[in-house]
Amino acid sequence: MKVTAVDQLHLEALDGVLICAGTEDMGSEVLAPIMRHAKSKELFSGKIGETYMTTIFHEGHCLEVGLVGIGTPDTFNITKLRKGLSEGFKALKNKKVATIGVDLKAIEGGFPVDKRLVRLLSSLWDMANYEFNAYKTDAKPSTVESVALFGLEMDEVAFNEGILMGDANVFSRTLTNMPANIMTPAKLAELAEARCLDAGVEVEILDEQAIEALGMHAYMAVAKASANPPRLIVMRYRGNTDSEEVLAYVGKGLTYDSGGLSIKPTASMINMKDDMGGASAVISAISTIAKLGLKINVTAIVAACENMISGTSYKPGDIISSMGGKSIYIGNTDAEGRLTLVDAVTYAIEHEKATKVIDIATLTGAALHCLGNDAAPVISNNDDLYNLVEKAFTKVDEKVWRMPIFDEYKALVKHDQADLTNSAGSPGTITAGIFIGEFVKDVPWVHIDIAGTAYREKAEGVYSKGGTGSGALPLVMLAKKMAK
Ligand code: BES
Ligand code: ZN
Ligand code: ZN
Repeated sequence: MKVTAVDQLHLEALDGVLICAGTEDMGSEVLAPIMRHAKSKELFSGKIGETYMTTIFHEGHCLEVGLVGIGTPDTFNITKLRKGLSEGFKALKNKKVATIGVDLKAIEGGFPVDKRLVRLLSSLWDMANYEFNAYKTDAKPSTVESVALFGLEMDEVAFNEGILMGDANVFSRTLTNMPANIMTPAKLAELAEARCLDAGVEVEILDEQAIEALGMHAYMAVAKASANPPRLIVMRYRGNTDSEEVLAYVGKGLTYDSGGLSIKPTASMINMKDDMGGASAVISAISTIAKLGLKINVTAIVAACENMISGTSYKPGDIISSMGGKSIYIGNTDAEGRLTLVDAVTYAIEHEKATKVIDIATLTGAALHCLGNDAAPVISNNDDLYNLVEKAFTKVDEKVWRMPIFDEYKALVKHDQADLTNSAGSPGTITAGIFIGEFVKDVPWVHIDIAGTAYREKAEGVYSKGGTGSGALPLVMLAKKMAK
């Protein structure tokens, strides 16, 4: 699907059109009567995010028309506008249109038109168009061939960044959506390598023996029950060779989480192929950072494995070791993500000389209880880095919220028989984050729990059912902000 910015819309050459409209009447001679009609019948008032669809006969052909409300400069909200445009787009797609024009002219004068808006407007079409149907034998490809945006002064660089970002988001969704029988640790490594090499990112893949040799005992404790062996995926992008700074992106890469011997009930297990949303985000982010040629050094790390059940499973009550040297009491084998992450974080600091660490993970069911599907709880040891992360999320229309690290919570991760316990209890999202924090030493670090945001039960706005690709774009923006 081709997305372009154009100087004019030729209605006669289009199958569908989306017209932004505020609470005032606007639009061309052809479309103004439709707007008046919809408004007089109270079918559409122009409120932000509202949509109204109809079909008209114009110059010898049927034109599918969607009105999308932009409200007033006071009520303008980019999240709601993107939702309206996406729903309008999906409605046009359902009507099998091939060519779409989007009239954004109403968003000028008083509305905040900046690079952020441009990126968010150019990225959304690939996101809204996305469907995961690779395994449906009767899947019909999208009929939409082109989307032409008209009526706004579009900064070209920001526009093209947005296009790359749309692609990054949907790539991340596909990785997350692929089923675990296909998406094994080895397959994830293979797909990460293909994507990264294409973008100019160096990739190193370590197998079971190499992981053992590094002393990644916590990671191996989780991985060893599976017939599908683990892969440590290390991706390096060096955009600033003058600098010693390395930003590490560590993504949780459980290609399946059955819970292990602390087995999950069926209803909780059904979506556990998505337990590599963090991995999807970092793979997608580093490849996009490379495509943008940002002047920064980034290393992305995924300790990919499956949490399964067999005679070699780790067991509740075990005391295991870790690459960082701390002993860990296993209170629950379903709290496996943090075990893989602490070794990956230790690897990032000791072997990749990371000077800043961001980890991103579908870590705790409690994250969904904290903030639902729309925002990710965060734990951090550094105000400046947290603030940058928060800004990066906002830039791409995603959300985080910082959780506190009170001393009372810190005490919960300690254990009487070992240095730490992997199941410290409530507040689950915070204690999981604090557990990882025990391994970062004094390196500035931010932990992002995307268990609530990585997956959606139903399609909504730019999102499809299933993986959302959450975190991928914020990590691109963060690197952009930190780049020289
Ligand atoms: N992968 C899960 C977390 C999860 C739950 C992600 C729901 C997405 C949706 C994680 O490994 C897990 O099972 N965490 C446990 C930790 C507990 C046993 C301390 C949880 O959150 O219940
Ligand atoms: Zn688990
Ligand atoms: Zn998990």
